[in-house]
Amino acid sequence: MFHYWRSLLVGVLLNRLVEASQPSRPSGTPDGQPKLSQVYETTTAISLPNVGNLQVHDPNIIFWDDHYYLFKGGQYIPFFKAANMSGPWTQVGTVLEGESIIHQGNSNRSRPWAPTTVERNGTFYCYYTLSTSGSQKSAIGVATSTTLDGSSWIDHGAVIRTGEGNGSDIWPFTVTNAIDASFVQDNLTGKAYLNYGSFWHDIWQVPLTDDWLSIESPQKPDARQLTFIPHKVVRPQEGSWMSYRDGYYYVWFSHGRCCNFDKRGFPDRGNEYSIRVGRSRDVRGPFVDRTGKSLLDGGGTIVYASNHGLVYAPGGVGVLSGSSSTLDLLYYHYLNTSVGFRDDQAQLGYSYLQYYHGWPVVLDGIVAQSGAAGAFRLRDPWSITLCFGFWIYVICRG
Ligand SMILES: *[C@@H]1O[C@H](CO)[C@@H](O)[C@H](O)[C@H]1NC(C)=O
Ligand SMILES: *[C@@H]1O[C@H](CO)[C@@H](O)[C@H](O)[C@H]1NC(C)=O
Ligand SMILES: *[C@@H]1O[C@H](CO)[C@@H](O)[C@H](O)[C@H]1NC(C)=O
Ligand SMILES: *[C@@H]1O[C@H](CO)[C@@H](O)[C@H](O)[C@H]1NC(C)=O
Ligand SMILES: *[C@@H]1O[C@H](CO)[C@@H](O)[C@H](O)[C@H]1NC(C)=O
Ligand SMILES: *[C@@H]1O[C@H](CO)[C@@H](O)[C@H](O)[C@H]1NC(C)=O
Repeated sequence: MFHYWRSLLVGVLLNRLVEASQPSRPSGTPDGQPKLSQVYETTTAISLPNVGNLQVHDPNIIFWDDHYYLFKGGQYIPFFKAANMSGPWTQVGTVLEGESIIHQGNSNRSRPWAPTTVERNGTFYCYYTLSTSGSQKSAIGVATSTTLDGSSWIDHGAVIRTGEGNGSDIWPFTVTNAIDASFVQDNLTGKAYLNYGSFWHDIWQVPLTDDWLSIESPQKPDARQLTFIPHKVVRPQEGSWMSYRDGYYYVWFSHGRCCNFDKRGFPDRGNEYSIRVGRSRDVRGPFVDRTGKSLLDGGGTIVYASNHGLVYAPGGVGVLSGSSSTLDLLYYHYLNTSVGFRDDQAQLGYSYLQYYHGWPVVLDGIVAQSGAAGAFRLRDPWSITLCFGFWIYVICRG
């Protein structure tokens, strides 16, 4: 009972903080160079990330054999290993031995993007993207291995293609962009799905065959759209992830502008990347956000966004699911405004998640992972009094 109230107080508090921290409306930038304070979100209501101590864009992490393995876009898909999310990370090797066997548009076959790796029964599947910035001529390929020791993987080539090539003339590949793969299994049946997509009609899902190497019914895929921004010419949603917890599937994605801030300047405040989420009881959707708005109608609850004038445009998200004794962990890349805005200066960050009425909120700092609910519980009467006071304040103010 007491636990319940403590969780409720903490949950409400965190929820109100996140609400209060939704990015303000674009501030509008004056002629010439905008003032940095008008570009960067300076809110302190969103926690700073835990630093991962690795430069990475679109990180992908699995936990295997008591270690974190991080995969990233780059020459032949480099991957790294660490005993701690904060590093130190050491490079183990690369997924591909050389160029991908996929030829697609002008894609650089030696530099795949945004990998997502999953494991089944000792086999690792790495889904990777070949594309060119701003082009729909894209492909998602897959490579497999039975070890993570740096020895070579088998490249199986394309799973789906858009813009050109085998299968790209079949809906929904005619209207979507085959980038940014993520993966999910139906929790009851184990059936596997590939999620993918970006600015071209946003994020989609197609069923995989039982060997996870191809899509099912390639002549007529049973595709579902997961997110969509209607009535807009530009639909900046990409980089999906899907997690499962307590009867809900959560679709996570990045919304806004990701890259090239050093070359093309900054968008209005709040239009840079932020990390959003929706949920559904069914792996196939439909997904809604916390207000009940459909993700097919532009919905999506912001879970993490620019903060402190220091963290800018967080995205490229993934979730490491916790257990009964550990919390879910949200990881992402962000730009540190005091480091630089080149895409290759993106930093690994991570935050632990608490769920309030089934909606995730990020916790501050490194949260001790012991006991059923971890250390985010308030332990002493003084904290409880403080928390209660602040809660009343927030409610009255709100
Ligand atoms: C392709 O990517 C590799 C590895 O990042 C890079 O060295 C090479 O210059 C790129 N090639 C082209 C044509 O951009
Ligand atoms: C991981 O590293 C962080 C930062 O150095 C540290 O606070 C934390 O205790 C470490 N966790 C473990 C399990 O060693
Ligand atoms: C798991 O792998 C082992 C050894 O490779 C194999 O014998 C077994 O049939 C596999 N199990 C499943 C469920 O695929
Ligand atoms: C094209 O894709 C179909 C379905 O995935 C496959 O059966 C066929 O072998 C592919 N054709 C070529 C030329 O790769
Ligand atoms: C269903 O979810 C539970 C809890 O996350 C997990 O332990 C189990 O492996 C999942 N089952 C499948 C088939 O994915
Ligand atoms: C940002 O960079 C500054 C300067 O290197 C460093 O002191 C600070 O810890 C960094 N903060 C984050 C959140 O990365």
